[in-house]
Amino acid sequence: MAPPLKHLLAIEGMYPPQIGALLDLAESFVLLNRTGTAPRNRLRGRTLINLFFEDSTRTRTSFELAGKRLGADVINMSVATSSVNKGETLLDTASTLNAMNCDLLVIRHAASGAPALLARKVEAAVINAGDGTHEHPTQALLDALTIRRHLGGLQGLTVAICGDVLHSRVARSNIFLLSAMGSQVRVVGPPTLIPPEAERLGVKVFHDMASGLAGVDVVMMLRLQQERMARSLVPSAREYFRFWGLDEAKLKHAAPHALVMHPGPMNRGVEIASSVADDPVRSVIREQVEMGVAVRMAVLETLARSGTNS
Ligand code: ASP
Ligand code: CP
Repeated sequence: MAPPLKHLLAIEGMYPPQIGALLDLAESFVLLNRTGTAPRNRLRGRTLINLFFEDSTRTRTSFELAGKRLGADVINMSVATSSVNKGETLLDTASTLNAMNCDLLVIRHAASGAPALLARKVEAAVINAGDGTHEHPTQALLDALTIRRHLGGLQGLTVAICGDVLHSRVARSNIFLLSAMGSQVRVVGPPTLIPPEAERLGVKVFHDMASGLAGVDVVMMLRLQQERMARSLVPSAREYFRFWGLDEAKLKHAAPHALVMHPGPMNRGVEIASSVADDPVRSVIREQVEMGVAVRMAVLETLARSGTNS
């Protein structure tokens, strides 16, 4: 049997049954959320602190909503107005929060490995909400839940992850999760935006959209992460869109039932055309956001159950 999860720091190293159990629990929350009947007593008396050192719309809001739907006390720490600005370190900040007996600490940080570092220092269960270019585990879980609900499972699917793979923690978490659950993963993008270790991760690399998308079940687009580029790695947004942006013509290469996904935030007209992003049949981008709440509820409940403070 897979060991109980104490923290959620990365998908890499997780066992398929642990992933499957989180997805099954999340699935049960989807219906409860839709009917407004989520169990508000499950995390009563527990404290969740959101500690976001990088910007976020979806992840931060959905962790807050997830915690509140399960009855936790949720605190969104505003890093911009905290004592971090007076020079307090990450570890001192975390140990201060820990002293307040926080049970669940959700952290997003620009440094890869920051959540793992915290997990060694605090008693709270630590959840990685995105660390540098390393991982974004709850994003991969919500993507998997969305795919599973539409295509019936993950085993035997072919998924193309396209664009700025080099800087994408979403891509890395998805590569680990989808490969562990029996999907074949392709990465598609210009050589400057594909990490050198891609093939070592067991994925197939393609440098043109037509062959990369041929017959795939899922097209997952990524944002061009200019904020992580020290120098420009693409000629111009217009040219990038011409070669790598998903439009209706390029989507025709994928299987007719293929899903279109994007973790958000989207740069419309750069990595994806609005006509594809808003296509009510092919695009599941809005549903990904909905699944984010259910997945985060499942993660919070699972960690609170097995956590050191329980
Ligand atoms: N929101 C996702 C992340 O924080 C993807 C992105 O920003 O492009 O990793
Ligand atoms: N997908 C995602 O993590 O979105 P935010 O950066 O808005 O949280």
